[in-house]
Amino acid sequence: MRLPGLIDIHVHMREPGATHKEDWDSGTAAALAGGFTVVLAMPNTQPPITDSAALAVVEQAAQTKARCDYGIYLGAGADNIDKLLPLADHAVGLKMYLDQTFGSLRLDDMSLWAKHLSGLPKHLPVVAHAEGRSIAAIILIASLFDHPIHLAHVSTKEEILLIRQAKEKGIQVTCEVCPHHLFLSEKDIPAIGARRSEVRPMLRSEEDRCSLWENLEVIDCFATDHAPHTLAEKDSPKPPPGYPGLETALPLFLTAIHEGKLTLDDVIRRLNTNPRRIFNIPEQPDTWIDVDMDETWEIRAAETYTRCGWTPFEGRKVRGRLRQVTLRGKLAFDSGKMYAQPGSGLNIRRK
Ligand code: NCD
Ligand code: ZN
Repeated sequence: MRLPGLIDIHVHMREPGATHKEDWDSGTAAALAGGFTVVLAMPNTQPPITDSAALAVVEQAAQTKARCDYGIYLGAGADNIDKLLPLADHAVGLKMYLDQTFGSLRLDDMSLWAKHLSGLPKHLPVVAHAEGRSIAAIILIASLFDHPIHLAHVSTKEEILLIRQAKEKGIQVTCEVCPHHLFLSEKDIPAIGARRSEVRPMLRSEEDRCSLWENLEVIDCFATDHAPHTLAEKDSPKPPPGYPGLETALPLFLTAIHEGKLTLDDVIRRLNTNPRRIFNIPEQPDTWIDVDMDETWEIRAAETYTRCGWTPFEGRKVRGRLRQVTLRGKLAFDSGKMYAQPGSGLNIRRK
């Protein structure tokens, strides 16, 4: 079966600052091995992508190392509002961290949210890491400024129901849900291990998980929030939050199609059509993926390209497997082998 190249709008590449976890080479190899031909990279690197110098470092690393196409987010900080405007056309969106997370980017002061939103060009979407009541606050503030807001990794019943109501009122809000919040819940924590289970937002109750499935039509995008940390880091007394996700998303969704929970069209809309529309991502000519819908197999971290060396889905039986990726007319990946070279990926915002 042939599908369009998938788009992951929420990926952490770790370069610069933590390339032992992932870099633009290993991260984009993982993307292709998962069927993704475009990834949008988050700004919580070290240093974070909050000014032109930091953006240039990331653009340079990506240009020389990326194997798939990509876009880059800017990070909203306490004192970079004016510095961001000239960079808007080089980025795919502005990320605002409103709640506790990994890295130094966090906007505690609500008046800064409004300051960022008031000056931004309307074509630059704002992506918010917001949980619980922060979601209500940022939806209101964004709508006061008539600015489209995209909510990252929605994970609870109260959040998805609030977004449903906001959409019914005609507010310009979109959202994404991660595979780990659709396929895992609190009850999986003992099997994964308490330290490795750390992720933001945390795994939720079964009731929350089921509510996401019940409100599927409210979910605009699926996004992995691929947040690699090494096993040694995850198993340490202070485990950083985050799971790898690029190489496990597609087989999980294909399995859900077999189980009757989703249609193929549901998946394509949330991993290609809607991401393209919300983030204004250009078409990739002669680009597609081929999947074997019927192969039954078990997910094994040992077979992945991500540098982090583990997955919360270890041992899970899935049905449906990526065979080939063709990117702009060239065979990029075939039956486990990587053919795309570092530097062959394009920045979707490069003129
Ligand atoms: C992310 C990371 O490690 O960068 N961790 C996570 O648990 N999701 C940070 C984030 O997405 O907020
Ligand atoms: Zn993230």
